Amino acid sequence: MVSLLVYNIGELVTNVAGTGEGGPLGIQRRAAVLVEQGEVVWVGPTGDAPAADRRIDAEGAAVLPGFVDSHAHLVFAGDRAAEFAARMAGQPYTGGGIRTTVRATRAASDDELRATVRRLRAEALRQGTTTIEIKSGYGLTVADEARSLRIAAEVSRETTFLGAHVVPAEYADRPDEYVGLVCGPMLVAAAPYARWIDVFCERGAFDADHARAILACGQALGLGVRVHANQLGPGPGVQLGVELDAASVDHCTHLTDADIDALASTRFDCMCHDGGHTTTVATLLPGAEFSTRSPYPDARRLLDAGVTVALATDCNPGSSYTSSMPFCIALAVREMQMTPAEAVWAATAGGARALRRGDIGVLRPGARADLIILDAPSHLHLAYRPGVPLIRQVLHNGVPR
Ligand code: NIG
Ligand code: FE
Repeated sequence: MVSLLVYNIGELVTNVAGTGEGGPLGIQRRAAVLVEQGEVVWVGPTGDAPAADRRIDAEGAAVLPGFVDSHAHLVFAGDRAAEFAARMAGQPYTGGGIRTTVRATRAASDDELRATVRRLRAEALRQGTTTIEIKSGYGLTVADEARSLRIAAEVSRETTFLGAHVVPAEYADRPDEYVGLVCGPMLVAAAPYARWIDVFCERGAFDADHARAILACGQALGLGVRVHANQLGPGPGVQLGVELDAASVDHCTHLTDADIDALASTRFDCMCHDGGHTTTVATLLPGAEFSTRSPYPDARRLLDAGVTVALATDCNPGSSYTSSMPFCIALAVREMQMTPAEAVWAATAGGARALRRGDIGVLRPGARADLIILDAPSHLHLAYRPGVPLIRQVLHNGVPR
């Protein structure tokens, strides 16, 4: 069994609350991490570190858990750069461009889709993302949704069926029939490749009744629930997510007090490593507000109400074509009044909560050995030095990349 020691860590963010400094970040100084068989087996002071077969000298840099990007749409073809340019010239974002990507995705070969998924997965890993959730949702036929998830499952175990992204053009005047297709043959074909089900619950996409019916069908097949909720305007998505015990409601850009109360009501406090959380996480996607020039979600209101917040990229060709979690952290700090510590937590432990995973987003014995060595002395630099490639090295499953 080959062991690997990362030592001389100037600042180790463990996300084990109440140990070390920094509250929820559980920061240890002059620390070391020992890894065996893809797992963290020991964390402690460099001076006490056990012997190891291989050693990586962090040279005083900061080390943190790999980013957990809990919301991405990587299976698509084509790009919508022209739509982005039109928005920057004043056009609003409506979600109508989704059908453009659906046309291109249906026309693409498996190998073309696979190449895009792998390219974006590699791009994210270079920027420190060690776990990435991948949705379907640009196929919208039985065969295209199933193959999207089959290809996604080749690179991630966190795959999400989003056959209810929009009603495709050929069903435009028969939405009930499309819901029947999604709940029946499409879900049967896609579910074997999916861990989660998601619905775009929004005016112009799926209303609460359709969304509830589809999510319930997915639940009956053993899929966990997540919801695209309250992105473009107020709506029923967040409260529907809470009703169905969604792991996460995503976007949360337009929230009422009742939405916040519903999320806060799922909170429980525990003696666990993060000290407590809401079982339904609010996942904020500031890349989407950046790329659609929309007002950012009110993260402070959520945090002050005790709601667990995650940050994710929403990487997709329409509303947010970034795979960079550091960029999202910088946006959250500058534009959403999150502290650097809150943003780093949300991009690591928060993402893990949004995926209901206890083995990632945290560095303690038994956790996956997914970690990032920064070219910087502290986690603060992720927001303090925006746009700078600060990821010196990534360990994924204990393997240096
Ligand atoms: O999360 N809101 C729905 N889906 C994506 C956007 C998809 C697109 O514009 O292609 C999102 O922003
Ligand atoms: Fe999305």
